[in-house]
Amino acid sequence: MPAKDDPIGIFDSGVGGLSVWREVARLLPSEDILYFADSAHLPYGERSLEEVKAFSEGITEFLVDRGAKVVVVACNTASAAALYHLRERFSIPIVGMEPAVKPAVSLTKKGKIGVIATKATFQGLLFRRLVERFGQGVEIHTRACPGLVEMVEEGLLNGQEAEARVREQLEPLLREGIDVLVLGCTHYPFLRETLEKVVGPGVTIVDPSEAVARQVKRVLEERWLLREGGREGRYTFFTSGEPDRFRKILQMLVGVSGPVSGVEWAGGKVIFRDYP
Ligand code: DGL
Repeated sequence: MPAKDDPIGIFDSGVGGLSVWREVARLLPSEDILYFADSAHLPYGERSLEEVKAFSEGITEFLVDRGAKVVVVACNTASAAALYHLRERFSIPIVGMEPAVKPAVSLTKKGKIGVIATKATFQGLLFRRLVERFGQGVEIHTRACPGLVEMVEEGLLNGQEAEARVREQLEPLLREGIDVLVLGCTHYPFLRETLEKVVGPGVTIVDPSEAVARQVKRVLEERWLLREGGREGRYTFFTSGEPDRFRKILQMLVGVSGPVSGVEWAGGKVIFRDYP
């Protein structure tokens, strides 16, 4: 049985989920958080949903084994691929992400919204259902933006080159005359400044990370699993990529230094690198 003092588990294909981690840490400062970056398999968005589902299952198992009382799938692609499956397979609550089409529809004045996310996210059932439920009477323009995830992973967030690359990706949406842009990938909030420059003041950007953090709080509250105050939360990070590289980008994106442990995949499971 999960207990109040158990940690929250959060995962993504890489550093993108740190945009959600940051909001969870801000809203629930006394919670311990385990963050898992599957950097070895990045980008998820170019993979098949089946593959991403298998990775998501292996990571959730790893986090549950480390005592996670809730798992946050801080990745739209992994949610598209695995959310329903994870909820069936694990007994702890699983909080997922989906492109924020519903709030975008209520914000648009022109009836034209843009959604940027990965190719795999657009292929999933979750997105199709969202469009069917909330997209009536509005134009929804979608665009997978290859390269933007990698920019964030490399720490290229601002400056001329970043702006040029973002502009190239967004131009087709801007030509359609959208007035709301949904960030349907957790890497994109780190490009917010550049995105704002490119889209200009006439386009409202919708980032769901804060709402996801509130949902985590709600889920814990309902189950009496919120950690009581008293001390600051402890943060632990795992990466299937290079720990040193992850440490640097972690510091750059959210100003935290670790600890970071290297893990690896073996037979569909995540294991510690120094395992005997
Ligand atoms: N951050 C992930 C998402 O929210 C995807 C990044 C990737 O393609 O690996 O969809």
